Order: sequence, then C-alpha cells, then structure tokens
Amino acid sequence: MTAIEDMSWFANPEARSWQTTQLGSGAHTFHRGLPGYVPTPLVEISPLANELNVGKVFVKDESSRLGLPAFKILGASYAVSRALSKRLGSVDEALPLHELRDRLVNESVRLVAATDGNHGRAVAHVARDLGLPARIFYPSSLTVEAKGAIVGEGAETVEMNTSYDELVSAAAEFARLEGSDAVLIQDTAWPGYEEVPRWIVEGYSTLFAEADEQLLEAGIDRLDVVVVPVGVGSLAQAAVRHYRSIPHPPVLLTVEAERAPALVASLHAGRSVSVPTTDTIMAGLNCGTPSAAAWPSLFAGVDAAVTVTEDESIAGVRRFAELGVDAGPCGAATLAGARRMLLEPARRAQAFVDADAVVLLFSTEGSAANPLPAPVVTVAVVPS
Ligand SMILES: Cc1ncc(COP(=O)(O)O)c(C=O)c1O
Repeated sequence: MTAIEDMSWFANPEARSWQTTQLGSGAHTFHRGLPGYVPTPLVEISPLANELNVGKVFVKDESSRLGLPAFKILGASYAVSRALSKRLGSVDEALPLHELRDRLVNESVRLVAATDGNHGRAVAHVARDLGLPARIFYPSSLTVEAKGAIVGEGAETVEMNTSYDELVSAAAEFARLEGSDAVLIQDTAWPGYEEVPRWIVEGYSTLFAEADEQLLEAGIDRLDVVVVPVGVGSLAQAAVRHYRSIPHPPVLLTVEAERAPALVASLHAGRSVSVPTTDTIMAGLNCGTPSAAAWPSLFAGVDAAVTVTEDESIAGVRRFAELGVDAGPCGAATLAGARRMLLEPARRAQAFVDADAVVLLFSTEGSAANPLPAPVVTVAVVPS
C-alpha cells in the first residue's frame, strides 16, 4: 500500500526498474501507407510548464487523426487489417486497405464492435473504407454527437441502456452467433479473445513512435513524465511496452475518470477487479474492467495512477482551449491528472519529479469526439 491511503491515487516505486520488450514497428509502417497519414502535432505549451512547476510540457494532440477526432483509428485500422489479412491467408501481414477492399468484394464479412464512442466510430470508418458493413453496439449515455458520428459512418447500430462491460459481452455474443462472417474488433481482451486486442495495442504504438521522433526533432533527448488516459488500459499497455523498454524510462502516470476507476482499484487490490461505473463526460474512459491482456503490464509497469473528477476534466478542456489545444474530456483528463500528481507535494515526491522535468501529455481526442454538454460550455452572462 502507498503512503497516501487514497483510492484516487496509487504509486508503484518498483515500476521504474521493471523492463519489458518493445512492440514491433509493423503498425507504424502500415499507418504510413494509409492515404492521408501524417503524424499528429506535438506542441510545446510553455505556460503549462510554469503551472505544473516543471521544465517543459509537450502535448501530443490527437484531435485530427486520419480524418477522425481521436487516436483510436490507429488501433482499429491495424487490427482490422491484420484480422482480415489473416482471413485471406496472410497470417503475419497487415495488407493495405485498398488491397483488402478488392479481395473482399465477394465476401460477406461484417465488422462488429462495442464502443463508448471513439473505437466504434473508428471501426465503422474502416469498414466503410473497405466497403464492408459494420454493426456497432453503443450505450444510451453516449452524446448525441458521438452517436450521430457512428451512424454517419454508415454503420448499423445497436443502442443499449447498459454499462460498457455489458455492451462488450453483447457484441461478443452477437459475433459468436453470427459465425465466422462476423469479425469482432474489440479493444479489450479476455481469456480466449486476445489476438485482436493485441493488434489494437500494436496499432497504438505508432503514437509513441511518432512522439519519440518529434521530441528528437525538437532537440529533446529526455523524457521524465508521460501521462496517458485509461479506459480498459490498452493504450496504457502500449505506453508501458514502449517506455519500459528504453534505457531511461520516464514516470508513467495513468489517468482514469473517478466514476470508472477500474485500474486504480485493481492496483490497490493487487489483482484485476471490476468496478461499478456511472456516466461520465469522459465517455472513452467509462470502462469497469481492465483488459486482461493489459493488466499484467499495467500492474508491473505503471508508476502512478490517479483518478480525476468531472469538474477537473472540464477545467482541463477549458485550459487546453485557452492555450490553443482542442481537447475533449478524455484528452484533457491528462492535464487534470498531471495537476493531481505534480501539484501535490507528497505525490510528486513519490514519483520523483523535479523542477526541470520534461512532461508529455497525450491528449487523445479533440472536442468534436465528445463535446461538453451545452450547460457546461455555455458561459452565463450575469448583468451587473
Ligand atoms: C479519447 C480516448 N482516450 C483514451 C481512451 C482509453 O483507451 P483504453 O480504453 O485503451 O484505455 C479511449 C478509449 O476509448 C478514448 O476514446
């Protein structure tokens, strides 16, 4: 147990010395071949360095990634390609989407996914690129905009008034009953369903490879703190694989919504547990169970985990907006989480962060992915 008896925080000092192996570069090569691929911006935000009392703060801005307002298409595109390439006999390859499209023209394949927004939209988008149907399961709690975006990609949709975990079960059951023509593209793993989530995690590795290249281009040769948001933990798994396999690993801080604290609860328990969740504006983080494939690396390799409130996320969205970063609530959760760790002396000391630290925040979605509800964005003008 950590010195701070607080269920919104967990620190693991042993994570710094734990090492793992790098993910391969196949996903980055695949993404580079996609039409319209460009690395997303890495921007230095100097005022945040003062606010967080560190040397430099960089933000990796995922508000526009391959035509969508979130990073998730990196995982969905690579996993879909790997799954369909395997189906066509190319077991170790991610065939280009145009080739898959041509070769699948007479096949009755359908992509299936459950989502809390961004993943399902990304799967539907790739399905459309391939000329394939997609069936996407989403919760009633999703914003009107996020639902509309999935429908807008041409997907068949199933709306359920249920939790993310139950949606995942429903999508998996649907795919099982449909048989081999339904290809489940889920971004979380459970015993017996590991291959596709592994490809999704490999797909996310592009984010970290790009950030490395961009930091070097900016003349930065060290990184002290990396902050990623967590839903099921697949993105964080990719971060652990990346940053725990380099010589001077940064502190890795994960950030969850206080209303869906599956990882921090699991870290406290010392085993993967499921937690009840309630609706949160950080829709992409609204997951009650860590991915079974992610859990071992997160348990061993995450230095610190924190949860943030709705208000903290909203404050993060607003601060990012003032600084010119277009972030949705999941993306801005990283700023909120960084504040929680860096502005609280005991936590900061537990994470060994000094005043010249270089910090990298992954802002994983733009505001278009998950717009704040209207009463939150409306500024009340009070007559004097
Ligand atoms: C914008 C955004 N950020 C972060 C995450 C968290 O990723 P993961 O579920 O892999 O932890 C999600 C998941 O949907 C997301 O949509």
